[in-house]
Amino acid sequence: MMFKQLATALALVTAAPLAAQTTVTVEADHPAPVYNKRLFGQFAEHLGTGIEDGIWVGKDSKIPNIDGYRKDVVDALKEIHVPVIRWPGGCFADEYHWREAIGDPAKRKVKINTHWGYVTEDNAFGTHEFMNFAELVGAEPYVSGNLGSAPPYEMAEWVEYMTAPIGSSLAKERAANGRDKPWNLTMFGLGNELWGCGGNMRPEYAADLTRRYSTFVKVPAGEHLTKVASGANADDTNWTDVMMKMAGNSFDAIGVHYYTIPYDWGHKGSAIGFDEDQWARTLAKTERVDKIISDHSAIMDKYDPNKRVALLLDEWGTWYDQDPGTHPGFLRQQNSLRDALVASLNFDIFAKHTARLRGANIAQMVNVLQAMMFTDGAKMVRTPTYYVFDMYKGYQDGVVYPVEIQTRTYSKNEWSLNDVSASAVKGTDGVLRVGLTNVDPNKSEPVSITLEGVSGRSVSGRILTASKIDAHNTFDNPDAVVPAPFNGARIKGEKLTLTLPPKSIVMLEIR
Ligand code: AHR
Repeated sequence: MMFKQLATALALVTAAPLAAQTTVTVEADHPAPVYNKRLFGQFAEHLGTGIEDGIWVGKDSKIPNIDGYRKDVVDALKEIHVPVIRWPGGCFADEYHWREAIGDPAKRKVKINTHWGYVTEDNAFGTHEFMNFAELVGAEPYVSGNLGSAPPYEMAEWVEYMTAPIGSSLAKERAANGRDKPWNLTMFGLGNELWGCGGNMRPEYAADLTRRYSTFVKVPAGEHLTKVASGANADDTNWTDVMMKMAGNSFDAIGVHYYTIPYDWGHKGSAIGFDEDQWARTLAKTERVDKIISDHSAIMDKYDPNKRVALLLDEWGTWYDQDPGTHPGFLRQQNSLRDALVASLNFDIFAKHTARLRGANIAQMVNVLQAMMFTDGAKMVRTPTYYVFDMYKGYQDGVVYPVEIQTRTYSKNEWSLNDVSASAVKGTDGVLRVGLTNVDPNKSEPVSITLEGVSGRSVSGRILTASKIDAHNTFDNPDAVVPAPFNGARIKGEKLTLTLPPKSIVMLEIR
């Protein structure tokens, strides 16, 4: 009922013709490389309740589950077509020893999670549990190996354990632990943040180790494994330069990590209860990723002009001060409408770089940082970010149509950014989708779109907005920020017009 009222209100707004301030040209006659579905990847680390409770409750739990995996979470992930899940870290990866987390759960090694809260890790969720989980969700597994503190043979044996057909001792051991058939391992990380928690290495040393470890990571003949080198911290292009120059032939992809932090690492800013300055600074800071991707891509072009090696933004998202009263090492933070806009702005930026940027993993999937959902015991709630992943999922593997935007500037204090952001993708289902974001929390924005080279007969859409900039969903009020139908767009041949409400995301579907 509420959706209906909102939709009617929007239709009335657009009924009164307004002079368009923003013009968007969708260059359908100049298609760009596809929007790789891996750009919608997720990241699940052994951190706080990201895995235990968030995904895994065990087969004996009273919480409805499928073989130990929370049913509510699995269903929600399937709905947004999660294409890739990165695991087990993060920083956790370079202290992880896979053998400690296979076989009888009662005999698995109990460790201290030295990175995340110094809590005990009972390894109940190990290789089998993760690989089966990825299969259940229908996602590619992106497993991060331990290059920082384990010898190369440990990495080599892990890959063999996961991928070898029955015959070798490792494959027999896998079968004895419950899995005959090898899993379809498609992505493998050669360490994580080797410049920091992965070993505090210089890029030259990391490049040598990457060459060495990569040599021993092998999959059966005829299969392909995307080997991912540990990438740079944000704008450290020297890291990418050295890795590409010295080890570029040893991997198929290289990462880069960029977190959107309103202030700084000491005082990051709060997830809710913020003012417009923090709204603007967060959105302006997330847009820095555009330059970061351009800069790393330019370095890669020097060594790999044919773009064989992919750039993966394999950790991204907002990072705020943890929610008051939560465990300091668990990185639990609320997720508001602001996070939804961070996600939509990033999706627009990704569209500009699809030739080189062919994967991304938001940090993290459940209960941690910019999460898709929160759980607490039997309760589960989807975040505004989840709904952006839902609204944009039609982009997966679709053809990107470049967009040209003329718009005004939205400013608050020293923070300025384009008022309207947009991207356009023709989906594998033949539907042209145009995603639009109005970052101004106070003003609506009339938009006129020209679809160069295509004409549509009908347009429909969905909108995500709310009355407050920090509106968020809670277990008691799970539908405060949910998409509603958007009936405010009009189409006539190549021309589309609409008005974007303040602080809103609209996804149009043109048929
Ligand atoms: O996502 C949280 C942490 O951020 C990861 O473990 C690490 O790779 C990064 O520094």
